[in-house]
Amino acid sequence: MKLWGGRFSKNTDKLMDDFNSSIRFDSRMYRQDIIGSAAHVKMLGACGIIPQSDADLIYKTLFEILEDIENGKVEFEVSAEDIHMNIEKILISRIGDVGKRLHTGRSRNDQVALDIRMYLRDEAKEIKSMLISLLQVILRIAEENTDTIMPGYTHLQRAQPITLAHHQMAYFQMFRRDLERLEDCVGRMNVMPLGSGALAGTTYPIDRYMVARELGFDRITENSIDAVSDRDFVIELASCLSLIMMHLSRFSEEIVLWSTSEFSFIELDDAYSTGSSIMPQKKNPDVAELVRGKTGRVYGSLMALLTVMKGLPLAYNKDMQEDKEAIFDAVDTVKMCLPIFTKMLDTMKIKKDIMYSSAKGGFTNATDMADYLVKKGIPFRDCHEIVGKMVAYCLRKDKGIEDLSFDELKIFSDKITDDVYDAISLETCVNDRNIPGGPSAGSVRDSIKNGKLFLESIS
Ligand code: ARG
Repeated sequence: MKLWGGRFSKNTDKLMDDFNSSIRFDSRMYRQDIIGSAAHVKMLGACGIIPQSDADLIYKTLFEILEDIENGKVEFEVSAEDIHMNIEKILISRIGDVGKRLHTGRSRNDQVALDIRMYLRDEAKEIKSMLISLLQVILRIAEENTDTIMPGYTHLQRAQPITLAHHQMAYFQMFRRDLERLEDCVGRMNVMPLGSGALAGTTYPIDRYMVARELGFDRITENSIDAVSDRDFVIELASCLSLIMMHLSRFSEEIVLWSTSEFSFIELDDAYSTGSSIMPQKKNPDVAELVRGKTGRVYGSLMALLTVMKGLPLAYNKDMQEDKEAIFDAVDTVKMCLPIFTKMLDTMKIKKDIMYSSAKGGFTNATDMADYLVKKGIPFRDCHEIVGKMVAYCLRKDKGIEDLSFDELKIFSDKITDDVYDAISLETCVNDRNIPGGPSAGSVRDSIKNGKLFLESIS
């Protein structure tokens, strides 16, 4: 018998039950559903809407059901449709008519809105702490490498020398913003919808603020139609998760490149690499590749959610049940990727010598050579032209600018004096860029200090 069976004269088709049912994926919200119901029934008792003794019995039984679920003693039924009705059905099977009072002044529409908000705010909290762990590892690598010179790239061609610390701190900023975005998103999610009913609220004198307090919500929703019919907070979370994956994916791409024999900037730890079934020499960066690949799933979830919601008339529509698998998969994927990525990063070996020699090639000091000539009074455009010619000469001779003899350098400009070699050394190139936000060891140390303060302020 369905909890809503009154107006029906026959049972639903088995195919209909399977199609309609969401229990196979929404059962994971059992805890939030029970805790939400417990707060609701406590309020119903306190407001004198149902007898206090009934409220107490329902309250107590709900927690017994919770314990039984956690001990694997409960089997959910597809025919009971979703987690909300499964739990209510179990409650009624245990305490009979008293259990039937739980759903007073409530609808599944505000109930599911409550559960999903509670579920996702808990998940967001876990993801936040995973991001903190990643930020800590990035900060550790940065701290140890403020003097580790490597080439910085544009168009994947060597551009100017930077340090590994500066490079890592770039990702620190990205993941820090991801974390802040997550907090911001939770702020908008953490609003209590119960009391909105099916769409038009309720006539019972319920105390919505009490329920909000009980459940740790910051506020209550302000419009009953909006509260049951929007899932923008789900989409917002999916978009935060997509950005996390986008950042992880770019980082992964660099890890993949850096672990090739062509770059050879790093070596991944054996514990986070795989071999080939046929080629004995292989050591593959599967973690980074999988993270890069899984990014597509999370974007897919975001698109699915946006598309489900597009064009839905107010208020609740069953289409909205489709929000769950998408956001659950996105959450699961990010929760799988962050910890393994963090471990892979934490254990990788950095080949400083190769980074340094790579920075020496590719004329990464050409800009500094031009800037040197500017300081000698030549307009920048002319300097650009002069150094361009120098580079062409070096390419013919298979040399770097710093390898040219003083006499060779003089061919290009008589303004060049013997302080030139110091001016174009990689160390000078990096450390003279000591503006705030720049790559010099001092600037990066300031940024590391800020990063530490940030982590202290949130953890
Ligand atoms: N399982 C449903 C969902 O996830 C719960 C809400 C059902 N409400 C309704 N009016 N059928 O959206």
